[in-house]
Amino acid sequence: MSQPKRIAITGAAGQICYSMLFRIAAGDIYGPDQPVSLHLLEITPALGMLEAVKMELDDCAFPLLNDVIVTDDPRVALDKVDAALFVGAKPRGPGMERSDLITDNGKIFSSLGAILNEVGSPDCKVCVVGNPANTNAYILKANAPNINPRNITALTRLDHNRAISQLAGKTGSTVADINRMVIWGNHSTTQVPDISYATVNGKAASDMVDKAWAQEEFIPTVAKRGAAVINARGSSSAASAANGVIDHMATWIQGTPAGDWTSMAVLSDGSYGIDEGLIYSFPVECKDGEYTIVSDLDVSDFIREKMLASQQELREERDTVADLLPG
Ligand code: NAD
Ligand code: LMR
Repeated sequence: MSQPKRIAITGAAGQICYSMLFRIAAGDIYGPDQPVSLHLLEITPALGMLEAVKMELDDCAFPLLNDVIVTDDPRVALDKVDAALFVGAKPRGPGMERSDLITDNGKIFSSLGAILNEVGSPDCKVCVVGNPANTNAYILKANAPNINPRNITALTRLDHNRAISQLAGKTGSTVADINRMVIWGNHSTTQVPDISYATVNGKAASDMVDKAWAQEEFIPTVAKRGAAVINARGSSSAASAANGVIDHMATWIQGTPAGDWTSMAVLSDGSYGIDEGLIYSFPVECKDGEYTIVSDLDVSDFIREKMLASQQELREERDTVADLLPG
């Protein structure tokens, strides 16, 4: 068997991680032939709870789980890892926007970014989950110039999966029938779920649903789903977020199926006129551990306007955290 892949996970005693770690240990990111080593990071007061999580991981006797490190030292957790999942951050409560978390959570990403810069591998694959995810990834990138900036991504796969599920429900199909969904922009209420290119069993989704549904129901339902879960559950999505992270990483590493793509918030290279350097969600194809932004899609004026509004929100979030951006 090959050398274990080392995965750092922050906020490992929190609720998302309780739904995520066991699946990673079972092989859901790197596949059934690849051993993994988990580097679990928590703040000091949560180490007791994290030890309990490690006990449960041990008790599962996962054949692919090589070893588990439990630590409150980010230098130990992030040391030369192959992948780093930045989950640890405050979640929002009812009535809040994700951007309300910037002041508290942004600092976590500047300090962990600086440490990743010192001890991390330059090609470490990063997925930022803690909210506001795109801007936290932007902060992390700015503080970690030694890390390949293309490898610093944020999670919009949960939104992508929510969008597929809504379209499947509306068209009386299954999620497996749906390809080419897109989420553009920020993981916030300005995100742009877009069915323009989606197919359902090979047929154009836009021919199967009313324009009014696509514009006035589908988009807000997906964009506000996080808040709907918080209102129903009292706390933010956990199992579906964990599943989104696993899908994000597994697709990045193992590839998108032929004819399909996924959505990831990645470094903008200026595609679709979006400011270079922002962490913005695009449709991407993945192959051999690399992603490529899907190019040359025709974007309608309706969607374009929303894409620009989401870009504007990201610019404003970036300006709010200027003190966390070196140089
Ligand atoms: P949680 O409160 O259950 O767990 C967060 C954990 O992070 C806690 O155990 C806490 O001790 C730990 N932590 C805090 N600061 C840390 C630090 N500096 N280093 C290491 N660990 C630290 O929260 P949760 O429900 O697991 O959510 C975590 C984050 O993920 C929140 O910000 C939430 O809003 C976000 N989230 C994002 C998405 C997405 O799609 N991008 C989806 C769901 C949740
Ligand atoms: C989600 O989309 O469920 C998460 O970002 C949590 C939240 O605050 O909405």
